[in-house]
Amino acid sequence: TYIVTDNCIVCKYTDCVEVCPVDCFYEGENMLVIHPDECIDCGVCEPECPAEAISPDTESGLDHWLEINTKYASIWPNLTERRDPMPEAKERDGETGKFEKYFS
Ligand code: SF4
Ligand code: F3S
Repeated sequence: TYIVTDNCIVCKYTDCVEVCPVDCFYEGENMLVIHPDECIDCGVCEPECPAEAISPDTESGLDHWLEINTKYASIWPNLTERRDPMPEAKERDGETGKFEKYFS
């Protein structure tokens, strides 16, 4: 599966939802996640994210993010259409430690 990671937080560009063939993105207040059981591993969303926040879960060190995606995909609502990015998207793009600072 692919998963959404730290740099999506307070950016939420949503380019990813437009290309997903199975609509498996779910939306929280300031981040999106992928439902790992619904993702068909097509990989098309990964290059679409301007924040480079999407990765395959086979990359090392992403266990925490797999847990976050799994947990919140079952709680948050499905998002299938592109929206405007968050107001601070450009400013916060690339900032480290977003999860600790902003995740809600
Ligand atoms: Fe959707 Fe494909 Fe991305 Fe999985 S890899 S979230 S199926 S676009
Ligand atoms: Fe987030 Fe990138 Fe999608 S910033 S909303 S994963 S396009």
